[in-house]
Amino acid sequence: MHSLLKLAVELKTHPEKFGRPLEGKSIVAIFEKPSLRTRVSFDIGIHKLGGHMVYVDSQGSPLKDREDPIDVGANLACWADAIVSRVYEHKTLVDLAKGANVPVINALCDLYHPCQALADYLAMFEKLGGVKGKTMAYIGDGNNVTHSLLIVGALLGCHQTVITPKGFEINPNIAKHAAKLAFENDVSLTIANDIDELGQADILYTDTWLSMGDNTPLAQIKEKFAAYQVNEALMKKSGASYVMHCQPAHRDLEISGSLMDSEQSLLMLQAENRMHAQNAILAMLVGNVALD
Ligand code: CP
Ligand code: NVA
Repeated sequence: MHSLLKLAVELKTHPEKFGRPLEGKSIVAIFEKPSLRTRVSFDIGIHKLGGHMVYVDSQGSPLKDREDPIDVGANLACWADAIVSRVYEHKTLVDLAKGANVPVINALCDLYHPCQALADYLAMFEKLGGVKGKTMAYIGDGNNVTHSLLIVGALLGCHQTVITPKGFEINPNIAKHAAKLAFENDVSLTIANDIDELGQADILYTDTWLSMGDNTPLAQIKEKFAAYQVNEALMKKSGASYVMHCQPAHRDLEISGSLMDSEQSLLMLQAENRMHAQNAILAMLVGNVALD
C-alpha cells in the first residue's frame, strides 16, 4: 500500500516521467449506481494516461438482471484491458472478476470504496506530510467508505477512530479484519457509539447518513444522527486540523455547510486526488508500471 501511495504521489507531481502507460488500452466502466466524481475522474484520468474509456450505463438494468455477471465479465474481457465497476452487491464484482481474465477495479460497492480511500490518504499525506502515526476519526454512518478507510489506513500506519450511532455500526466481519490489520501494523483502532469518546484527531471524516440504495426516509434517522454532525465545534473539541468527506455531501446534515466551505475543508483536494489515486492503480494493473 505504501508503494501504491508513493506511485500516486509521483504520478501527480511528475506525470511526464511516466509517458502514456495506457497507450492503446481500452477500459470499460460499468456502473449500477449514479456517480459524478468516480465516473469523470476515471474517464479523464484514463485519457491522460493515453488510454480510452467506454462507459456502460447499467443503472436501469442492474448487471445481474439481463445475464449473469460472470458472463458479462467474460464478454467485456474480449475487448477491454480492465473493467471498472460500481455495483450494489460486492458479490457482483466477484462474479464479474471470475468471468473476466482482466483486472476488475471496485468503483464502490456495498462494502468498500477503495479508490476513494487511496485518494483520501494521498490528501492526508500532502497536507500533514505523511500518514504513518497520524489519526483519522470517522464520525457518522458505518458504511463502505468507513470500511475502506479503516483497511487502507491500517496498512499505511494511520491510527483510527470510528464513532457511529447505535444500530449504524460498521460490518462486524470488517471490524474484525480491521482490528487484525491494526494490530499487525501497530496502530490503534477505537470503535464506539458515544460521540464523547472522540479523542484527539488530525482529521475528522464523515459521509452521508444514507448511502445510495438505502431508501430509509431521512426523517426516520435525522434525530438519531444529529449529534454526530461534523461541525466547527467538533473540530475544535478534537483538535483536528482538517475535515474530509468523500461527497456527495449534504450541507447542514452530516457536515455543516460553513465547515465544508472553510479553510479546514479538504473536500476538493480529495475529489482532485481521485484521479491521481486511480491512475496509480491503472498504471500498476494495466500499464505495467512497477511499484517500488
Ligand atoms: N465520492 C464518490 O465516489 O463520488 P461519486 O459517487 O460522485 O462518484
Ligand atoms: N457511502 C456513500 C458513498 C458515496 C460516494 C454511498 O455508498 O452512497
